[in-house]
Order: sequence, then structure tokens, then C-alpha cells
Amino acid sequence: MKATKLAEGVYWVGAIDWNLRDYHGYTLPGTTYNAYLVVGKKHTALIDNTYPGHEYQMMERIKDVIDPKKIDFIVANHVEKDHSGALPMLTKLLPGVPIYCTEVAVTGFGKHYDTKGWNFKTVKSLDKLDLGGKTLVFVEAPLLHWPDSMFTYLAEDKILFPNDAFGQHIASCERFDDELGKEASLYHAQKFFANLIVPLAPKVLKKLDEVTKLGIPIDMVAPSHGIIWRSYVGDMLGSYVNWCNGVAKDKVTIVYDTMHHSTDLMAQTLAEGIMAEGVAVKVCLLKDGRFEGTHRSNVVTDILDSKAVLVGSPTLQDEVYPTVADFLSYLHGVRPGRLATKKIGFAFGSHGGQGGAVKIITEGLKKAGIETINDGYEVLYKPDAAELARCYELGREVAHRVKKM
Ligand code: FEO
Repeated sequence: MKATKLAEGVYWVGAIDWNLRDYHGYTLPGTTYNAYLVVGKKHTALIDNTYPGHEYQMMERIKDVIDPKKIDFIVANHVEKDHSGALPMLTKLLPGVPIYCTEVAVTGFGKHYDTKGWNFKTVKSLDKLDLGGKTLVFVEAPLLHWPDSMFTYLAEDKILFPNDAFGQHIASCERFDDELGKEASLYHAQKFFANLIVPLAPKVLKKLDEVTKLGIPIDMVAPSHGIIWRSYVGDMLGSYVNWCNGVAKDKVTIVYDTMHHSTDLMAQTLAEGIMAEGVAVKVCLLKDGRFEGTHRSNVVTDILDSKAVLVGSPTLQDEVYPTVADFLSYLHGVRPGRLATKKIGFAFGSHGGQGGAVKIITEGLKKAGIETINDGYEVLYKPDAAELARCYELGREVAHRVKKM
């Protein structure tokens, strides 16, 4: 297996997980667990490692560069197992090897592994590690996204290793943004951000500001998942700032499920009203195995660059449909309300007598930080012509609001 060179003495030695399709509720076309080898004149360091079960790939790629026994230091930017799972094997292979991490990470590792005998070296922001012509600088990044998280910066080559931040979940033969292509790279970054980073948006903005004030030049960003940014670093950082600020398109995402196609008919008609006003719309039937619908993680990716979100459901035994309950729970966790610009929305749906789903959805939207612009629209059984006309008008109304935002 081959390592990939980033710069003189700097190599990607990670693992490609081609088969992963679900990662904590996120559907993905595989991923990579990126690890990096930095070979200085005096010492060699390994930055991050792999999910348990993927150590073999990493070790084979390391062997493409050096004898793994020549690794002098391990840098552990993050405790989560997808970046630390090889530590038990590495600490056996390299007894006493210094592991550079934050103080909080030591406790975290102790809860994941038997760390007896592990040689932790705790670091704080701007502490340095000299490898001989290669200087690693550590920057604590608490709660980005775990309390233990930190970034590592390789000064001479101007490479930032920010662990999960700026990553994307994709398994591919390409290692760099310009190989995968700008559009695909930014799309996968958007999905990663929409599902995992949105709740952290205020902290991300603060950290970006802090790093900017440090005045450190960054030529390359090498995250712990997906491709490495070298040609589109500015586009990616600009997108992160925009996403954190809630910058969105004149676009509405409609997400729903349906029992007898009544809520479906409402969704389609709302979309027609929105389109009639020249506003973009994405219609997402939730996926539950009955239909080839849209996975929740793809829906929130569309919501990230939409100004409005409409959620629909039939009432089933006084509740929302199970898929819609699942989606609302996920949306609450993602918390689009943390973005600097609020999104608007409302609920819609049909019922067979008592109703109730629309009220539940309205509450769910509010909990997720979305400003509801009405109390929702609920119809009995099947929408008739007048009710469909109302849906069309509601579509036009939300489109008008979007154009003014
Ligand atoms: Fe927080 Fe990729 O792990």
C-alpha cells in the first residue's frame, strides 16, 4: 500500500473505509480515517490514526515511508475512536512512545482504553514540538467537537491538521480537493458541516477568528476525514464562514412523509407556489423503506443553504409519522438555530379526524430554532380544490418572505 506525499517529509498514511454507509445517523459513501506522518531531520511523528479494525492499512502505508518502529512521537488531536483506535496497537509496538494531546484527552483516553503505561505529554495552545526542520505547533480547540479536541500546525510547510474540522465523509481514490473537484469537495464538506458542525457554529467562528489573529499562513488543510484541501482552501474557509453565518440561497426545503398521499399532494402544491415566485425548492420525502425517499442527513444538507423549511406529516394515532418524529429529533440535535441568521418555516399535513401532527411539528421547528411564520396548515382527509389553492398561496407567501430575507 502506498503513502501519499503532501510535502517533503509529510505523508498521508490513513485508511480508506469503502463500505461504511451509516455513521451515527448520517448516511455516507464510505469515509477515510486520515493519519499523517511527519518526518523531520531528527524525529518522526504520527498525527492521528484510525478506527479500530483499520490499523493494517495505516501500518502498510507507514511502511511505504519508514519502518514504523522509527516513529518517535504520536500526536492525538482527538479521543474519538475513529482517530485513536490504533493506539492500543501502537503503544504495544512502541512502548513508552510519547503521546501528545490535551490534558482533557488523557481522561478521555482512560475511559476508552487501558492506558496503563501510556506516556502522555499534555500540551496547551502554542506549545511546540521540534522534529528537526519540522515544527509542530498545537492549538487547543475545546468542543470542536469534543472537549479534548485540538489542531496541529506544521509551521515550515504551512499545513494545518484540524482533525474533524473541515473534513468530509467520502471514500475515494482521490486524496486532494483538486483531484476530486471543487464542486464535489465543497458538497461533501457542506454535508459534513450540516450534520455535524452546525451546533458548533458560534465556536467555529470564534476559532477561525483566533487562528486568523495568530497570523499563521495556511497553504494546506489536512483534516481527519476525506480529501486534503490544497487548491480550494480559501473557498472552503469562506464557505465555513458563510455557513456559520447562516448565509443561504433563495431556497425552500420541503420535508415530509405521507400515508395516503394527501400530505404528498400538499407538499407538491406548496412547491408549485414557491416555484411560481422564482424561488428554488427541494422536495424531500423521508425515507422509511416504503419509498425511495431522502435520508435525514441529506435533508439537513439542503436545509443548510435554504432560508426556509416546511415540514409535513399526517397525524397517526395523535402523533406525527415515525419518520417525521425521527427527522424532528435529528433536526433538534443539528440545531440550525445556532447559525447567525435564523431560518423560517411552518408545518403542514392531513388528518383523519382529530389532527395534531401540525402542532407537534410547529413545536419541533421552534425547538430547533426555526422561526415559524404561521401556526401551520392542516386539512381533513384529502385536500380539496380550495385547500390546494391555499397550499399554493402558502407556497407563494413563503417564497415572498424568502426573497426579502
Ligand atoms: Fe470526532 Fe471523526 O471523530
